Amino acid sequence: MRIIIAFAAAIAFGVSPQLTFAQPSPAKAPAKVQKKAPAAATPAVEEPDEATKEFEKFRAQMEDSNPAELFEMKGEELWKQKRGPKNVALAESCDLGQGVGVVKGAYVGTPRYFADADAVMDAERRIVWCMVEKQGFKFDDIAKNPFHRENDPGAPDITNLVTYVAAHSKDMKIAVPLDHPRVHDAYETGKEIVNYRAGPYDFSCNTCHGSDGKRIRMQNLPNISTGKGAIKGVQGWPGYRMTGGVMLTHQWRMNDCFRQQRFPSPKYASDVVSDLLTYMIGNANGQIYRGPGIKR
Ligand code: HEC
Repeated sequence: MRIIIAFAAAIAFGVSPQLTFAQPSPAKAPAKVQKKAPAAATPAVEEPDEATKEFEKFRAQMEDSNPAELFEMKGEELWKQKRGPKNVALAESCDLGQGVGVVKGAYVGTPRYFADADAVMDAERRIVWCMVEKQGFKFDDIAKNPFHRENDPGAPDITNLVTYVAAHSKDMKIAVPLDHPRVHDAYETGKEIVNYRAGPYDFSCNTCHGSDGKRIRMQNLPNISTGKGAIKGVQGWPGYRMTGGVMLTHQWRMNDCFRQQRFPSPKYASDVVSDLLTYMIGNANGQIYRGPGIKR
């Protein structure tokens, strides 16, 4: 109930959730993105606008009763239960990089290289891998509907699990092991993807996120190539999105930005997404992760 009241308050404050996710119509889209904005339109110092300030204020109030906790609790149950065709618990079989069953610090320590899978994996991809390899679930079943959609009665298991794991890295330092050669390769590939321009508008991630002070409508677009910007792209994920009341993961965020870019959707839990996350989270190394959050 508090959430609904707070949400109503946000609307009253003038934070318009509809605007937030409204897509620019294709014909107008390039004009909305300030590729080479004149200095006047691109403030050097990021001044949060009124709506952003109001949203931040009300998010601070909501943080004591963050709805993400509900998903985290479900995730804890799922982590500890014996499940799947092999009737095994993740808690007794899944190594997220900190030892079998250990969740503490796992989220801030990924993406990392996992020798048993011979791949660099972000937390979500690794949990999917464990569900398939250890519990015997079918990858295609998980990938069919991997993200929480509006009007779904609950979030998918994988989202609950990611939220549970992420919560156990709250207030810890981001520590992607970039000195590992395979992680380093993933980082370099991620950097290339971020620069890769294609699609109907010839956008790359960097068109929108490669310099400071850019915004589309009400959204500040973090410059993910800097530590300061990258942490903004990491903080609050997984996050409870008030528009639609859904719990969304970092993988979802990457997918949705491919959509913003008018690229085809990447395959769920694929290298492309892990590489991107290695680049972005790696750039935020050394900064403190604040745990699952709230997004408007
Ligand atoms: C057309 C412009 C555009 C392109 C291209 C684009 N994004 Fe975004 N991105 C946005 C907008 C707008 C938002 C905020 C959307 C929202 O809040 O719903 C956003 C949000 C994000 C966020 C979350 C920021 C936060 O505060 O939590 C991340 C991370 C991100 N984008 C990464 C990427 C990556 C990686 C790519 C390339 C695959 C990319 N974006 C391509 C426009 C773009």
